[in-house]
Amino acid sequence: MSDIGHLWWQHGVVYQIYPRSFQDTTGNGIGDLRGVTGRLSYLADVLGVDAIWLSPFFRSPMADFGYDVADYVDVDPIFGTLDDFDALVVEAHRLGLKVVIDWVPNHSSDRHDWFLESSSSRDNPKRDWYIWRPPGADGALPNNWVSLFGGPAWTFHEPTGEYYLHSFLSQQPDLNWRNPEVVDAMHDTVRFWMDRGVDGFRLDVIHMILKDPQLRDNPPSTSQPGWFAVEYDAFEHVHDKAHPDIHEQFRRLRSLVDDHDPSVERMLVGEIEPLPWAEWVEFYGAEGDGLHLPFNFRLIESSWDAGSIKGVVDELEAALPSFAWPNYVLGNHDQTRLASRVGDQQARAAAMLLLTLRGTPTLYYGDEIGMHQADIPPDRQQDPFGRRVPGEGRDGCRTPMQWDATPGAGFSTADASALWLPLAEDFAKRNVATQLDDPGSLLSLYRNLLRLRRAEPALNRGSYRPLDGPDGVFLFERLHETTELTVALNLGSVPVSVDLTGTVLANTNGDHRGKELDGTTELLPGEGFVVRVR
Ligand code: NOJ
Repeated sequence: MSDIGHLWWQHGVVYQIYPRSFQDTTGNGIGDLRGVTGRLSYLADVLGVDAIWLSPFFRSPMADFGYDVADYVDVDPIFGTLDDFDALVVEAHRLGLKVVIDWVPNHSSDRHDWFLESSSSRDNPKRDWYIWRPPGADGALPNNWVSLFGGPAWTFHEPTGEYYLHSFLSQQPDLNWRNPEVVDAMHDTVRFWMDRGVDGFRLDVIHMILKDPQLRDNPPSTSQPGWFAVEYDAFEHVHDKAHPDIHEQFRRLRSLVDDHDPSVERMLVGEIEPLPWAEWVEFYGAEGDGLHLPFNFRLIESSWDAGSIKGVVDELEAALPSFAWPNYVLGNHDQTRLASRVGDQQARAAAMLLLTLRGTPTLYYGDEIGMHQADIPPDRQQDPFGRRVPGEGRDGCRTPMQWDATPGAGFSTADASALWLPLAEDFAKRNVATQLDDPGSLLSLYRNLLRLRRAEPALNRGSYRPLDGPDGVFLFERLHETTELTVALNLGSVPVSVDLTGTVLANTNGDHRGKELDGTTELLPGEGFVVRVR
C-alpha cells in the first residue's frame, strides 16, 4: 500500500487515560469524565498527542474496576452521565483529538441484565447468552480451564444447578459469542457509541471471545511465558481462547465500523496477549480485513537491552504483511510503570524509542512525567487480582495523575485518605507543574519528541532500517522521500561511543537541538539522539 501511514491511527499518538485516576471534579476521590474533558487541552496543546483511549467508564459494580460491564450503553454515575460523555467528545474533536473507548466483549458483569436473565432459569431465552455446563460425575468441573485471575474458570450456580464459565473473576461471566443474538446485541453497543461520535475501540482480551466449541481440556504447559496468575501459566491455552473461527468475528466487526459511516475513519485496536509473530499477524486479517491494530506488547515483555529491543523491532518488521501497520506499547493499566521497570535514566531512552519507531505509539497516562510504580499499603489495595494473587496487584500503576504539588496533586480536592488509591510518594516533586517549565524534564522531552514526530513524515510514516551499532546501542534509520534520520539509543549501563553525523533534532540529556554532530559522540546510559542526516 503506497499510502500507508496517512491515517490518523497510523501517524498519530494514542494516550491512554484510566478515568478513575485522571481528574476528579466532584471531590469524591475518584476521577470522572468531566475531569477528563477539563484536561483535554493539556493533551492536545501542551503534550501534543492525537487521540485518547479511555479505559471503561460504563455502568459497573466495579469488581474489576469497570472491566465488568453491567450496561454497555450507559455511563456509570461515578464517572458522570451520557451528556458528560457527549461533551467530552465535542471538546476532544474541537481540539483535534480522536476518542477511542474500551469495549469489553469477552465477558459482562454478573449484574448485567443479560446475565440476570440467563441465570434466572435453565430455560430462560437468554440462557445460552453465556456458557453454562452441567457438573460432571460427583459435581466435577466441566473441564480443567482456569481463570486468568487464579482458580477454576467455572463457578457453580446453585439455583440452576450448572456451572458458568468466567475467564476472569466469577463476577465476569463469559458471553457466548457462538450465539448470534449475542453477536447482534454486542454489535448494537458498538453502533451506539459510533453514533455518539467515537473514533475507535480498544477491544478487551479480544483473542478470548471464541473458545473450542467442545470445551476440551487444555494440556499442561511446557514453557508458556507468564502473563497472569501462576495457575494459568500451568497450561497451554490451546482450547480456552483464539479458536480459528475468531477471525470471522473480526471481519464482521471490521465491516461494522468501516461501513457505519464511511466518511469517518474509525479504528479497532485489539488487546491480545503476546503470541508468536506468525499467529499475531493473523489478527490483522488475511487481507487486512481484521483488526486495524493488534496491540503489540513485545517491548514490555522484552528485557531492556539493545539486542533484545532491536530483535523485537526487526522481528515485527519482518513478520508484518505489506498492508499491516505496526504499533508499540510501553505501559498500560496492567503493567508495572515504565520508569520503575527500566529506571529513570532509561525512561528517557524509552520515550525516544516509543516516539521514533515506525508504528503507532500508545502512551500510558503519567509515563510522560515518569510516574513510578507506587507502593500500596495492604489496607488500601483495590485490585481484585492483587487480592487473589499477592504480589500481582495492578494498583501501583493506577495511582492518581500527578498534576501539581498541592495536597491532592491537582487530581482531587478530597483528603488523601479518601482518594480511591493513594498518591505515589514522590508526587510533590514529580508532577506536570514542576516539569512543565523545566527544559530538562522528562515532560519537556516528551513534548519535543511529540512535536518532532508530528512534523517529520520520516518519523510518523517513514520506513525503518536497522543499522549496525556498537554493543549496547540500538541504531536505526527512518526514511521518507529524501529525508534520512538516524536514531541512536544507549540502552545499556555503560557509556558508548557512536559515529553520528548530522543535525540534532532531539536528544534526551540536555538540549543539543540544532547542533551539528560530526563523528564520534559519546552516549551515556539512557541517552539518545535523533539526527538529520539529510
Ligand atoms: C484486560 C484488561 O486490560 C484488564 O485490566 C482486565 O482486568 C481484564 N482484561 C479483564 O477484562
